[in-house]
Amino acid sequence: MKKLTLIAFSLLASFAHADEKADAIAHGKTKFMTCGACHGMDGAGLKLGPTMMMAPGYKGSKVVDGDPEVFALVLLKGIKKEGTEYMGMMAPLGDALNDKDLAGVMTYIRNDFSEKKDLITEEQVKGWRAKYKDRTEMATRAEIAEMLKKSAEATKEAAPEAPKAAE
Ligand code: HEC
Repeated sequence: MKKLTLIAFSLLASFAHADEKADAIAHGKTKFMTCGACHGMDGAGLKLGPTMMMAPGYKGSKVVDGDPEVFALVLLKGIKKEGTEYMGMMAPLGDALNDKDLAGVMTYIRNDFSEKKDLITEEQVKGWRAKYKDRTEMATRAEIAEMLKKSAEATKEAAPEAPKAAE
């Protein structure tokens, strides 16, 4: 009986989670116009003529697929324009979109344009917004790469099958 209750509870919990994710995706879609204007409504990156792009597509993006904190940082603070490969610029969107909007947009993108398929919650975004509250500079490409590398290493270390480093 105890076991059954446990199963029922975990089933309920996973349904609740699925609901929360579906809600986040639905909300994210309503806010996606803000991104689609440059990244294309299909997330493939808007083309300007035969060779020029407004912004990159999401497929295969390490920022989209990686540590969600880096994704959030990019959205909150923007990316410093260092090259000319894209016509557009990734501006800071932290003022335009609230925590619920950002969580929704991130969840939508990670589910529809990426294989992550996870839920990014409003609480997570709230935490990241607070962490970077006093930061005014945009993220640089080098910083983004460094953050992604560090978090990939941390994930590897946390995995039980990872070989132990020699002391
Ligand atoms: C005004 C155009 C514009 C808008 C609007 C815009 N972006 Fe961007 N975005 C860009 C450009 C340009 C880049 C590439 C910046 C660079 O590397 O210099 C970029 C980069 C990114 C990246 C990093 C991709 C990678 O792998 O390097 C992500 C993720 C992203 N944008 C998500 C979003 C989301 C989500 C929204 C909506 C909430 C959004 N962007 C709105 C133009 C835009």
